[in-house]
Amino acid sequence: MKILVTGGCGYIGSHTVIELLENNYEVIIIDNFSNSKRDVLDKIKIITNKNFIFYEGDVCDNSILEKIFSENFIDGVIHFAGFKAVGESVEKPLMYYRNNLDATLSLLETMNKFNCKKIVFSSSATVYGDAKEAKFVETIKKGTPSNPYGKTKTVIEDILEDLYTSDPTWSITMLRYFNPVGSHASGLIGDDPSGIPNNLMPYILRVAVGELECLTIFGNDYDTPDGTCIRDYIHVVDLAKGHIKALDQLFNLESGIKIYNLGSGKGVSVTEIVTTFERVNNLKLNYRYGERRSGDLPNICADPSLALKELNWKTEKTLEDMCKDAYNFIQMQKNSIKGD
Ligand code: NAD
Ligand code: UFG
Repeated sequence: MKILVTGGCGYIGSHTVIELLENNYEVIIIDNFSNSKRDVLDKIKIITNKNFIFYEGDVCDNSILEKIFSENFIDGVIHFAGFKAVGESVEKPLMYYRNNLDATLSLLETMNKFNCKKIVFSSSATVYGDAKEAKFVETIKKGTPSNPYGKTKTVIEDILEDLYTSDPTWSITMLRYFNPVGSHASGLIGDDPSGIPNNLMPYILRVAVGELECLTIFGNDYDTPDGTCIRDYIHVVDLAKGHIKALDQLFNLESGIKIYNLGSGKGVSVTEIVTTFERVNNLKLNYRYGERRSGDLPNICADPSLALKELNWKTEKTLEDMCKDAYNFIQMQKNSIKGD
């Protein structure tokens, strides 16, 4: 089976490409490196010892998509390409709507044209908005995300639903990720945002290696057991494996539209993640408690039971694995920069 992976050089995409190659899928990647580095391609080859096809280009551009579909018979698509920074999306909403929506529309138009109607889409827990349930289950009505990035995910889910209504020969799976962290065991690839990180784990890593001075934990007066926010962290390798299960299902079903939460089902507080990181990596992190970050919800946790029931998928890696693997990655990065 030949799978087109849009955004396959990014954090989740690169880990998923490795799983695809290791499961004997043939892979074609398209990426424009707007948020990734070219050397990821070599690293995927080193890790898997397998070949794949790469096109450098913008998924918003129908002409390169048509070239890819003309040159290859593609059985299905995993669509990761998009911008993802919540704060940046508030500052530059047009850039977010343009990239995330255009990329999806161009892709779907081209897939339609070439009669390739199987797609897995990277959605997010953000589509639940500020739902009050203790655990988010797929049947909860979608909410309103607090930022343009989240809204693009909601709109794309709506587009996919409308597409399926208009043409039920499509097979569409929307995966709602919770908080992916960690990295591949090789330490070669991982989450490496440029500039000052917004997300918790990349920030912890920069503090751990001395590149940033102090982690601020945003708020310790929430209505949670230790006062800090709770999230459902998922190891990126578990997340990548979820895509293989979703693809397997896509090729076994005639057609259909599905939504699955990909999370562990276990809530972890910010303080817990910090103390676990210190313990498993045997170090002390410089941190302090600060003001709440605007827009943060106190408690976000998945109910992942549908993915277990229908995809036979559940997380296998622990919070300890996430903290160890993430730290291993940043140390390898530092060492390779020193060695350059
Ligand atoms: P990432 O930024 O690391 O990867 C996205 C990749 O897509 C990058 O390599 C980037 O260069 C590429 N890209 C972006 N726009 C493109 C375009 N128009 N044409 C070609 N390439 C383009 O992000 P990620 O963390 O790997 O996330 C992948 C997907 O999962 C995104 O859609 C994101 O919104 C979604 N998601 C991520 C998280 C998270 O916390 N990381 C959570 C929920 C959902
Ligand atoms: N946090 C800190 N200090 C930091 C960074 C984060 O205390 O320096 C806290 C946040 O307040 C939050 C938790 O760590 O309580 C996790 O924050 P992240 O920024 O890592 O992740 P979010 O849960 O805010 O957002 C993530 C993705 C979004 C996605 C959302 C869906 O980054 O793309 O999950 O729930 F939309």
